[in-house]
Amino acid sequence: MYQVCVCVCVCVEGGGGGGRCKELGEKRCLSLALIQQICLTFAEDLSWDDNGYVLYCPCMGRFGNQADHLLGSLAFAKMLNRTLAVPPWIVYRHHAPPFVNVHEPYSQFFQLEALSAYHRVVSLEAFMQHLAPQHWPQGQRNAYCYETAAQRSSDKKSCPMKDGNPFGLFWDYVGVDFDKSILFGGIAFSAYHQPQWIKKYPALEHPVLALPGAPAQFPVMEEHVGLQRYLVWSESMSREGEELIAAHLDRPYVGIHLRIGIDWQNACKMLEKGDAGPHFMASPQCVGYNHQSALPLTMTMCLPDLMEIRRAVKLWVGKISARSIYIATDSESYSKEIEKLLEKKVKVVSLQPELAQTDLYILGQADHFIGNCVSSFSAFVKRQRDVHGQPSSFFGMDKPGKVNKKEEL
Ligand SMILES: *[C@@H]1O[C@H](CO)[C@@H](O)[C@H](O)[C@H]1NC(C)=O
Repeated sequence: MYQVCVCVCVCVEGGGGGGRCKELGEKRCLSLALIQQICLTFAEDLSWDDNGYVLYCPCMGRFGNQADHLLGSLAFAKMLNRTLAVPPWIVYRHHAPPFVNVHEPYSQFFQLEALSAYHRVVSLEAFMQHLAPQHWPQGQRNAYCYETAAQRSSDKKSCPMKDGNPFGLFWDYVGVDFDKSILFGGIAFSAYHQPQWIKKYPALEHPVLALPGAPAQFPVMEEHVGLQRYLVWSESMSREGEELIAAHLDRPYVGIHLRIGIDWQNACKMLEKGDAGPHFMASPQCVGYNHQSALPLTMTMCLPDLMEIRRAVKLWVGKISARSIYIATDSESYSKEIEKLLEKKVKVVSLQPELAQTDLYILGQADHFIGNCVSSFSAFVKRQRDVHGQPSSFFGMDKPGKVNKKEEL
């Protein structure tokens, strides 16, 4: 038995909320309609799915990358009509207590139920606790991976499921050791290979496809970008976020994401040296997904300097007559410089919260957002805003998909 809280929006006729109210927990719904939280106690459907499961470790990158991978993995599970065991987020807490990897259940930040509007899901934790003991017992836990991945293991035929960080800690967190490896090659996670997956690994003989990494691409494929709409903030995240906005910010406000830390400076050097093309990490979101027609990716877009930060902030603060500005940063906030630029007429706020998700929430709710085109953290915010029809731009690109005038010269 589970306690599950759901948010129910009842749209007022003619209230203008229209179709948006379909999205659970949509903020706009709050002002236009009646919002009600109902806590129900019911048995979550934890009966065994004969069509099988997909398990994976979100072992690549931080939150932004893990979110990209989740969208692709959802699509993969749906394609094979298997239930997706949604993994926890891996949070790397190495600069602050507890100085280890923390595994935060999906529902810590987002509503698990909202994902099921797209496809069947179960949290990996619930899968392990309620289903694995009977249906995927120790001794029958197969790992599935590419032959090329197995090449890295000492016997060259084992999937490197628990080799190194964060792999070992992740599977230890859910209490899994693998018994056998099943290797594959010449098959991709794309829709093109769907029939091969079904034929090669029918659910009856291969009930649980456990993979060392996400069955997905980074960055997220264009066709899966829209799945972002099923990632709905948890009640506690929304409450905390709304409280912070009410306490610190005056609307309208511009949210900006400064990705300028030392690791990022090094990454953008690749671009400067010509070792990266226009498709560099999350950049398809602004240069376009098509390789042939991709717009140029400039250094200003990858690593905006203070001059560009000033220019973009001034432009958008003016355009929307902003009364405050929120800065999320991976290092410096440039609060003083921005305050000076705006002659103290606009409130400048940078909370640098303990949870990166708090920043994501506040940026998501801004009246305008300026992001970093190459960053998957910015991409998360941009996708979330796109779902709700809220405007965004990038440093070095005021109109997504269009080169800035100056850059053209
Ligand atoms: C997909 O899986 C569900 C749950 O196991 C099942 O009810 C449904 O019939 C399956 N759909 C197809 C097309 O096989």
